[in-house]
Amino acid sequence: TKPAILVARALFPSVLEGLQTQFEVSSNQGDEPYAPAELIARLQGKSGALITGSERIDAALLDACPQLKAVCNVAVGYNNIDVPACTARGVLATNTPDVLTETTADFGFALMMAAARRMAEAEHALRRGEWKRWSYDMFAGAEVNGSTLAILGMGRIGRAIARRGALGFGMQVIYHNRSQLPAEQEAEVGARYVDKATLLREADHLVIVLPYSAASHHTIAAAELAQMKPTATLTNIARGGVVDDVALAEALRNRTIAAAGLDVFEGEPQLHAGLLTVPNVVLTPHIASATMKTRLAMAELAAANLTAALTGGTPPTPINPEVLARTNLG
Ligand code: GLV
Ligand code: GLV
Repeated sequence: TKPAILVARALFPSVLEGLQTQFEVSSNQGDEPYAPAELIARLQGKSGALITGSERIDAALLDACPQLKAVCNVAVGYNNIDVPACTARGVLATNTPDVLTETTADFGFALMMAAARRMAEAEHALRRGEWKRWSYDMFAGAEVNGSTLAILGMGRIGRAIARRGALGFGMQVIYHNRSQLPAEQEAEVGARYVDKATLLREADHLVIVLPYSAASHHTIAAAELAQMKPTATLTNIARGGVVDDVALAEALRNRTIAAAGLDVFEGEPQLHAGLLTVPNVVLTPHIASATMKTRLAMAELAAANLTAALTGGTPPTPINPEVLARTNLG
């Protein structure tokens, strides 16, 4: 008999069909994620699961689903998965790096530009009928070309954004990261490694691409915002919680910084109410990787991980490969 798996959110039919050739597939075809208790109930008897950031995989869930061998995220970020808890129980966790890097960098750059050039604010005013005449300073924003692009979190996506800025827009790139890049990667975009205080002080446009963890919680809060230029912008395409949204809304209201572009939020899909009432922020609903081409590539990579994990193959993008070395999952 085929192993049983759960596909926790609706996905491309072609991906489901591919999985059905190998597995007994249960899938959530509704719009709503399963509540935690229902997720546990649906996982009973399942060897693997395709999940998204909406599904939380923690120790309690794993203990309630002892037959689970693999959880495969359709996302590069995996703060929804307690990886040490998975590893301790021999459960493989996988994510979808690489396939979304360029698409997500495109969106991050677009969001930064939209914030800098006040596109959303200007469009909203136009829709409200407020465009009566030309004036020299109407919606004058911050220069992008030739300015200083400051990247917090220099992984694959951070480097792809740096390339756009340096090679396409003549920006000076500074970055802060847990570790400094190899010299040849720095040289590709002329990136200069700086400490966090320098990054904040020198940024014309700060772009945050830092994975969320307890260590990165509120990396940007009131004290950090206060160190930035009043003309600077902040863009967050990483995770809600890396930025203190309450402090950010306050900084935008007080013009401590000029503008922000946010694709991710603390407590999303709820937003801190203050963000909805300040004009100088561009808000998007966690769509940085959302092109059909990239979302398909993500779903296919997650499915390839799950298939390999449950059929004795080599999962292409494991988060905790030590599980593979220890056990024969198949
Ligand atoms: C989206 O946020 C992802 O982590 O892929
Ligand atoms: C994600 O792929 C990152 O490393 O930024």
